Amino acid sequence: ASNRTFTMIKPDAVANGHIGAILDKITKSGFKIIALKQTSLSAEKAGEFYAVHKERGFYNDLVAFMSSGPIVAAILEKDNAIDDFRKLIGATDPTKAEPGTIRNLFAKSIDANAIHGSDSDENAEIEGNFFFSAFERI
Ligand code: CMP
Repeated sequence: ASNRTFTMIKPDAVANGHIGAILDKITKSGFKIIALKQTSLSAEKAGEFYAVHKERGFYNDLVAFMSSGPIVAAILEKDNAIDDFRKLIGATDPTKAEPGTIRNLFAKSIDANAIHGSDSDENAEIEGNFFFSAFERI
C-alpha cells in the first residue's frame, strides 16, 4: 500500500469547524479519499492507537486529548502519499509549520495540532486497519 496514507482530523479541528476546509485542501492537493468516517476514540482505544508513544512524557495528555471529542479518520491515495501528505500537514509543532500547511492554518499547539499523518507505509497500513474493515478500504 505504498501509495496510501492514513489521516485523522483531531478533536480540536473538528470542534473548531474545520473538517470541510481540511478535506477540501486534501482533495485539492491530489489525494483521493478511499475511506472516510467521523467517530470517537475512548481513552482505551486512543491508548492502543498511540501505544508506540507509551513511554513518552506526553502520552497521558495525548490520550486524554485524542479521546476528548469526535475525530475524522480517513485513508488517502496518491503517488508518494506518505511524504507528500507530511509536507501538506507541516511540522508537528504548528509554530514550526510552513505557511499554508494544514497545521500552520488550523493548529493551535503541539498537542492540539489539528491533524495526523502516518510516518511510514507500514504504519499507514496498521493505522488504516485500526479504523476500517477490509471491505471499507478497497
Ligand atoms: P502525531 O504525530 O499525530 O501523533 C503523536 C502526537 O503527540 C503528535 O502528533 C503531537 O500532537 C503530540 N505531541 C505532544 N508533544 C510532543 C512531542 N514533544 N513530540 C512529538 N509529539 C508530541
